[in-house]
Amino acid sequence: MARLERTLPLAYTELASAADLTPAEAQVWDAARAATAHAYAPYSGFWVGAALLLADGTLFGGSNQENAAYPSGLCAERTALFGLSAARPGHAAIVGMAVAARPGAGPFGPALPCGACRQVMLEAESRQGQRIALLLPSRDGTILRFASVADLLPFNFQPEDLPAAR
Ligand code: THU
Repeated sequence: MARLERTLPLAYTELASAADLTPAEAQVWDAARAATAHAYAPYSGFWVGAALLLADGTLFGGSNQENAAYPSGLCAERTALFGLSAARPGHAAIVGMAVAARPGAGPFGPALPCGACRQVMLEAESRQGQRIALLLPSRDGTILRFASVADLLPFNFQPEDLPAAR
C-alpha cells in the first residue's frame, strides 16, 4: 500500500470544576495552585505552578523561574520534575501531576504545558515505568484529566532513539 490515512484517538475526561476531583486529585490540584505563589516571573508576569503527587502521598511543587537573560529561565513543570529528581533520589513513583497558572496574583486561567515540558514529562513517566495521571485547567474553565502524560505527546522522542549514547 502506498499511502494510509490514519487518525489518532485521544481519550480524556473533562470535569466541570474542582468539585468533581477525587480527594487525591484535589490535593495535587490545590498544590499546583499554591505553587504559583513561588513563581519568579518578573518579566512575563505569568505565575505558573506544577505539583507532583507521589505514590507515598508526598506532594512536590515547582514554579516558573525566570531570568533577565530570557532563555535561561525554566517552566514550572520542569522545575518540579527536575527538582524532585535532584532533591529526592530514589523517590516513590510519581502518580499524579497538575499545573496551574495565573497572571500575577490574578484569577487562575488555562495552563497547558509547552512542548519542551511535555517531552520532560514523558521521560519522567517512561523512566519510572508507571503512568503519571495529569490534570490541566482548560481554556474553557474546565479540568482536563489525562491517564498518562504520554497522551500529550504522540510521535515523541524516546531514549531508545539514541542508541549511540548508551
Ligand atoms: N511557563 C511555564 O512555566 N509553563 C508552561 O507550561 C508555559 C509557560 C512559563 C515560562 C515563562 O516563565 C512564563 O510562563 C511565560 O512563558
